[in-house]
Amino acid sequence: MAEVGCHNINCLLLSASLAFCLLVWYLSSPLKYQSKLTILFSTFPPNSHIKTSQETAPSSPPSPPPSAASPAPLTSLNATTGGDAITRPNKRKSSLEKVEEGLAKARAAIREAILVRNYTSYKKETFVPRGIIYRNPYAFHQSHIEMEKRFKVWVYREGEPPLVHGGPVSNIYGIEGQFIDEMESGKSRFLARHPEEAHAFFIPISVANIVKVLYRPLVTYSRDQLHRVVADYVGVVAQKYPYWNRSNGADHFLISCHDWAPDIGDSNPALFNNFIRVLCNANTSEKFNPRRDVSMPEINIPKAQLGPPHLDLPPVNSSILAFFAGGAHGYIRKLLLEHWKDKDEEVQVHEYLSKEKDYFKLMGETKFCLCPSGYEVASPRVATAISVGCVPVIISDNYALPFSDVLDWSEFSVHIPSERIPEIKRILKGISEKKYLKLQKRVRQVRRHFVLNRPAKPFDVIYMLLHSVWLRRLNFRVPTPS
Ligand SMILES: *[C@@H]1O[C@H](CO)[C@@H](O)[C@H](O)[C@H]1NC(C)=O
Ligand SMILES: *[C@@H]1O[C@H](CO)[C@@H](O)[C@H](O)[C@H]1NC(C)=O
Ligand SMILES: *[C@@H]1O[C@H](CO)[C@@H](O)[C@H](O)[C@H]1NC(C)=O
Ligand SMILES: *[C@@H]1O[C@H](CO)[C@@H](O)[C@H](O)[C@H]1NC(C)=O
Ligand SMILES: *[C@@H]1O[C@H](CO)[C@@H](O)[C@H](O)[C@H]1NC(C)=O
Repeated sequence: MAEVGCHNINCLLLSASLAFCLLVWYLSSPLKYQSKLTILFSTFPPNSHIKTSQETAPSSPPSPPPSAASPAPLTSLNATTGGDAITRPNKRKSSLEKVEEGLAKARAAIREAILVRNYTSYKKETFVPRGIIYRNPYAFHQSHIEMEKRFKVWVYREGEPPLVHGGPVSNIYGIEGQFIDEMESGKSRFLARHPEEAHAFFIPISVANIVKVLYRPLVTYSRDQLHRVVADYVGVVAQKYPYWNRSNGADHFLISCHDWAPDIGDSNPALFNNFIRVLCNANTSEKFNPRRDVSMPEINIPKAQLGPPHLDLPPVNSSILAFFAGGAHGYIRKLLLEHWKDKDEEVQVHEYLSKEKDYFKLMGETKFCLCPSGYEVASPRVATAISVGCVPVIISDNYALPFSDVLDWSEFSVHIPSERIPEIKRILKGISEKKYLKLQKRVRQVRRHFVLNRPAKPFDVIYMLLHSVWLRRLNFRVPTPS
């Protein structure tokens, strides 16, 4: 997994994004704003300590990663250059040049928004993101505006359902099919009419469907068939079109909520080194790379609905401090049940919830909703908690939280690493009522980013996923062919 040196495009892409972050930081941080404008889009660090009221705002900017010092990619930040790579005047180069120019304009607009602490838009804005839940609301807003204006995604048309062009639209993997369906509905504003105008290329494979169709009956856990389908598909489009080869896949992405999705590149790492994977199973100690990949919220989508109910119960003095109900899947939940199952009135942890109890209402009436990892790091309880207005308590190790490029999770959630499960009650009781009410208010504020709409709407979960891909593409530069 370790990459050495800067031999590939993705590496350039990463250093370019880091350099970009660094540059905007320099541009945007008169010292007095430092604590709020530290880093523009940074990733939630692997969680090694508790994020509670006591330790929220970092007092000094994180030190820049070493690769940010590499000066070369900074040239790609000049607003007016499409990149010196593109000079030869032929048709393909000129559409690529247009694409790169648009990206350069977008970067310039974002820089400007950070400086003036406001946005510029070509349309009337119905929502203006503001507040502490955003790492930098101005940068995020302008980036979202630029995405709406410019971002085009080409959806490959090769292949047949059910393995390609469709996926599950309900239950815990439902977001996978919903996203594919949205991109193929013909209604998305982000759909490129021609691959030449595209900034990113979507491979509409459904890992959940592959597992459902090819692994039934389930007699093997070998990932061979999964590898074969994905590699075949990539082989076909790389043969037929120039786009995969020109970036080594770095401007291509796939979306999957299935636990096995991180394994797609295992049999051929070289092929998938740069590929952007949008995954629910965002385990940084497995194969998830937060700077390249995108963490997607897992949402338990009931049949014929678009997600859990929205509740807005008034902030009461709930007698239930914390709540969890669910099976003993995985080591974290086992620990949780071992320590807390049916033992405490205030920390209610149940393996099964009796039928007459309303799960969502109970969560909505609870102050803190425990969201432990199960068989994989992501938990659909995070999105459910946000939906019912309960402050999520993330109990996981090595989980890259969704949309951490733009959202500051420490302002609307609590993180408890698995080894501190015995201290849950003490930790949550240590959060003052005042601080709690703030967290709860911000949970409601952040909710719009986790809502699924069909068709998708600005700032909702599908836009946020696209924005995550857009951000990664924004600093991407097609290298000089040599
Ligand atoms: C980018 O801008 C800087 C400062 O304006 C300039 O010195 C540099 O030559 C430019 N780079 C390119 C590739 O245009
Ligand atoms: C921010 O920009 C918008 C649109 O350009 C403008 O209507 C608004 O007054 C500005 N707000 C501030 C605080 O400058
Ligand atoms: C892309 O690269 C592969 C492997 O080197 C090659 O087989 C394929 O023909 C290339 N595709 C195009 C369109 O040139
Ligand atoms: C909540 O409970 C605390 C302690 O029990 C009490 O001091 C406070 O007044 C209560 N708040 C409300 C809104 O009832
Ligand atoms: C995350 O990955 C590590 C390393 O493979 C593994 O030990 C751990 O169980 C995973 N976490 C979850 C919750 O599956």
